[in-house]
Amino acid sequence: MRILITGNLGYIGPILGAHLRREFPGAHLIGVDSGWFAHCLTTTGTLPELMLDEQRFGDVRALQARDFEGVDAVVQLAAVSNDPMGNRFEHVTDAINYRSAISVAELAAKAGVRNYVFASSCSVYGFSPDPRARTENDEINPLTAYARSKIATEQTLEKAALGNMVITCLRFATACGMSPRLRLDLVLNDFVAGALASREITVLSDGTPWRPLIHVKDMARAIEWAIKREAEPSGRFLKLNVGSDAWNYQVAELANAVGEAIPGTRVSINKDAPPDKRSYRVDFGLYRKLAPDHQPLETLETAIAGLRDGLKAIGFSDPDFRQSQLMRLKVLEKLLGEGALNEDLTWSRRPTAATASAGLRSAI
Ligand SMILES: NC(=O)c1ccc[n+]([C@@H]2O[C@H](COP(=O)([O-])OP(=O)(O)OC[C@H]3O[C@@H](n4cnc5c(N)ncnc54)[C@H](O)[C@@H]3O)[C@@H](O)[C@H]2O)c1
Repeated sequence: MRILITGNLGYIGPILGAHLRREFPGAHLIGVDSGWFAHCLTTTGTLPELMLDEQRFGDVRALQARDFEGVDAVVQLAAVSNDPMGNRFEHVTDAINYRSAISVAELAAKAGVRNYVFASSCSVYGFSPDPRARTENDEINPLTAYARSKIATEQTLEKAALGNMVITCLRFATACGMSPRLRLDLVLNDFVAGALASREITVLSDGTPWRPLIHVKDMARAIEWAIKREAEPSGRFLKLNVGSDAWNYQVAELANAVGEAIPGTRVSINKDAPPDKRSYRVDFGLYRKLAPDHQPLETLETAIAGLRDGLKAIGFSDPDFRQSQLMRLKVLEKLLGEGALNEDLTWSRRPTAATASAGLRSAI
């Protein structure tokens, strides 16, 4: 089996690569990524991509038919991957998250790929005043360019003529947990980082928004399930909430759980903050029914402990981490500022001051 993963050099990709290597030891695993965050490693171990059989550097906007020859399954992770980046790069978000996801699916279907897995998001539910948990058939309310790009992809994939390819759109809850390319722009990860670096968790909202979470390892298990999924019984196209009912948390609950796990941490909640626009509870019943053997296994305690231990292992202590290279948008802004990336987030391929001085040092 040949599995091609786009966007594998990010936060989820390394965990997914290791998981697929374990589950499909004989498979040929291929990663394709433009490499925006390839250098943002947070591991003391070896390069995570050594798990794969091939690593290609390339832009999903430029993939061609030959890239899919002989491939059995495609996992589309490549994306501008949160709201702040989506707001800053609205057109690029549409081009990568939506248009390239569709063209990749079309090329894959033509090449005879059996399974296409799309990393969608529960953020399509946006804000829901209704306290009832959202099911896949409930109304959606995408509030941002990021959420709109995910729903546009799902809706186009559902209608498109893509032969017999089995298409699974996994609407993931917000990710958390340690990874060899950790991001700290995710709520639980941010709280653990704050607790470690400054003994303080600063909740920017009033703490009441609902935010379902899922551990990255459990995301990988869901993707494995979707790679193997057959068209029957649930249909050739499927959109599915992925997470677990027990992980529907309010933000204040998450902050308090981290505070308890890391003694001496002060939790400050901004009681005067205007209500967060994003808040929803999600019903994961369909995922439970369809994938009983791939249900989330991690607990909030294991997620917090994994982050704490992983951050300690790399000597993390930066109280100013919200401005650091562990925030995806900050990395892109730095690369743009250095002239390494163009405004459309393609590489300029011009040597920058950073690459030139590194070259000089190694020559000396
Ligand atoms: N992290 C979450 O909470 C979460 C939740 C739901 C869904 N998702 C989705 O899962 C996927 C992966 O998320 P992540 O947290 O690993 O994000 P990430 O930002 O860490 O990684 C995204 C990767 O995609 C690559 N990429 C972006 N544009 C590309 C292009 N044009 N060509 C090739 N590669 C490109 C980047 O270089 C990066 O390595 C995304 O689609 C994201 O929307 C993530």
